[in-house]
Amino acid sequence: MSTISFDVPPEVLDNRESERALRVRGGRSLRGEISVRGAKNTLPKNMVASLLTDQECVLRNVAGVSDVEIVGRMVRALGGEVEHTGSGEIRMCAARLAPLSRGEAAEFSGRSRIPVLLCGPLLNRVGELFIPDLGGCDIGPRPIDFHLEVLAELGARVEETSDGVRLTARRLQGARIRLPYPSVGATEQVLLAAVLAEVVTELSNAAIEPEIIDLIAVLQKMGATISVETDRVITINGVAQMHGFEHTAMPDRLETASWACAALATDGRIFVSGAHQLDMMTFLNAFRRVGGDFRVSDEGIEFWRAGPLRSVALETDVHPGFMTDWQQPFVVALTQAEGVSIVHETVYEDRFGYTSALNDMGAQVQLYRDCLGGRSCRFGQRNHLHSAVIVGPTPLRGTEIHVPDLRAGFSYVIAALVADGVSTITNVGLIRRGYESFEDKLRALGADLDAGVGSASRTLRRRIVSA
Ligand code: EPZ
Repeated sequence: MSTISFDVPPEVLDNRESERALRVRGGRSLRGEISVRGAKNTLPKNMVASLLTDQECVLRNVAGVSDVEIVGRMVRALGGEVEHTGSGEIRMCAARLAPLSRGEAAEFSGRSRIPVLLCGPLLNRVGELFIPDLGGCDIGPRPIDFHLEVLAELGARVEETSDGVRLTARRLQGARIRLPYPSVGATEQVLLAAVLAEVVTELSNAAIEPEIIDLIAVLQKMGATISVETDRVITINGVAQMHGFEHTAMPDRLETASWACAALATDGRIFVSGAHQLDMMTFLNAFRRVGGDFRVSDEGIEFWRAGPLRSVALETDVHPGFMTDWQQPFVVALTQAEGVSIVHETVYEDRFGYTSALNDMGAQVQLYRDCLGGRSCRFGQRNHLHSAVIVGPTPLRGTEIHVPDLRAGFSYVIAALVADGVSTITNVGLIRRGYESFEDKLRALGADLDAGVGSASRTLRRRIVSA
């Protein structure tokens, strides 16, 4: 097993693709059917879990998004083998593992936050690793203090250096750990580290997102005993060895919600095949409250606008609350709703920067430091613009926009579809990190995109092989 092949051309990986602008002519409703595959926020974690064993692992329902490609390269750099064996399936085997060199670690960290999750497998299997400074992105500082604290509690030695953190451990030890906040990443960190640690780990105030449960399902298949109890307590019984797995990843509920918001904002009708109702009950409630409607079937979910959009008050939160990653596309739809809507962002302190570009297009979004429309959160009384007041409906007009991050990027595409005239969107490579073949899907739904991008998607279908 020595080849790696994914349907993502090198220019997408090297982000050169982001230099090619996407031109969108607005004013058309999106109608038709598209499909979603495995979740961008699950697949990389499932791939990291394969490093916990020297046996073969098979992952299915794998989407062609660049985050999967980047993690595939990371696994190979660690000495693992990765093979794309056909539509949506990859085989991985980490018979041997060696920590990344500082240079390699730095190369990967500039592109993704996943390197921080390598700690568990590497500390358990080789006893050391180096994590370079991951930096933040346009949604907040995104520190890793919770990660380092839980690893220290599990017995790792943590040495902060000028350019990152060096971690070593002889054998990790189970512990009772309480997270200061139900962080998804820190919960995944404990899961991936404690499964091979001595004795039992009890994690309280844990994240319980569906993506976490999907990772627990993989670890259980590999031989771990993990129970999710009431009140966000997860108990992990350490085992001496983990074995291979076969797993079909859960569908991407963030991509599904984004297409649903596109149907809402453009007054369209979109059937999203592969979508699961159970993962997005809170979203579906909010979708109906704002004036949308949906039909659930075993094949997927159909979304449409059921009448004039109504203003709402929303608060993002950890699961089962309204997800922070649903907020950007939903805000675009709220610019077309009758009245004053409020969105209180409680997960990231700085996730409304993207609204200034929406205001340039004609939206009316005002930001506040107060905790509006809900309970006070940990960002209240601090200098964070984490509440938005949206007055609608406002006509939008085409403009030039630069994508700052993944979710804001897709919400700009929706705004451009609603707008009068043509919008030119740059840095679209960031959108490909989490939205598979989104231009092809837009075109299939009747969107009017610039032909230039067409040739890019033809490239997308070309396979790349590196021995
Ligand atoms: C995951 O990020 C997702 N990313 C995010 O999706 C998602 O928004 C987030 O969970 C919340 O659901 C991936 O799965 C790759 P957190 P993660 O740890 O794990 C603070 C997208 O667009 N915090 O739950 O990084 C942190 O700053 C992305 O798909 C600390 O302070 O999120 C944030 O305010 C964006 N110290 C909050 O906790 C820490 O050590 C939640 O972060 C860790 C986190």
